[in-house]
Amino acid sequence: MTPVVHFSRRYRFSASHRLHVGAMSEAENYATFGKCNNPFGHGHNYVLEVAVAGPVDAATGMVVDMVALDSLVNAQIVERFDQTHLNVDPLFAGDLVPSTENFAIEVEKMLQESAATLGVRLVRVRMEETSNNSFDLLAREPGDRVVF
Ligand code: NI
Repeated sequence: MTPVVHFSRRYRFSASHRLHVGAMSEAENYATFGKCNNPFGHGHNYVLEVAVAGPVDAATGMVVDMVALDSLVNAQIVERFDQTHLNVDPLFAGDLVPSTENFAIEVEKMLQESAATLGVRLVRVRMEETSNNSFDLLAREPGDRVVF
């Protein structure tokens, strides 16, 4: 059986957000989100860890072209969100709260198709929001089956 190697790489960017639900009152928002509901928002130094998996290329000895992965993640994620306020990005301009849970889900969707162009499968997206908080999203196969 061909060995499958999982490869992870970390990317860093900074952005601000405000956790707020438009349909809830100010008091309900504050009760739900506390200081994360501060009207002026607050910032995070996000660490995005992208894990991909695939067979090792016999010629190069690598599972993925790291330079190609970097340019893809930088173009799709880092350059788009670095030094921005997430609430005004089109992703979160509607009703979607820019929590890091939702952010990780959206990032996984964006990277899912492009990972395939590199000949690998996206297996996990981890968003670290602070040194204490991180959110893991195990990428899904069609049909919602969780893959590890
Ligand atoms: Ni926050």
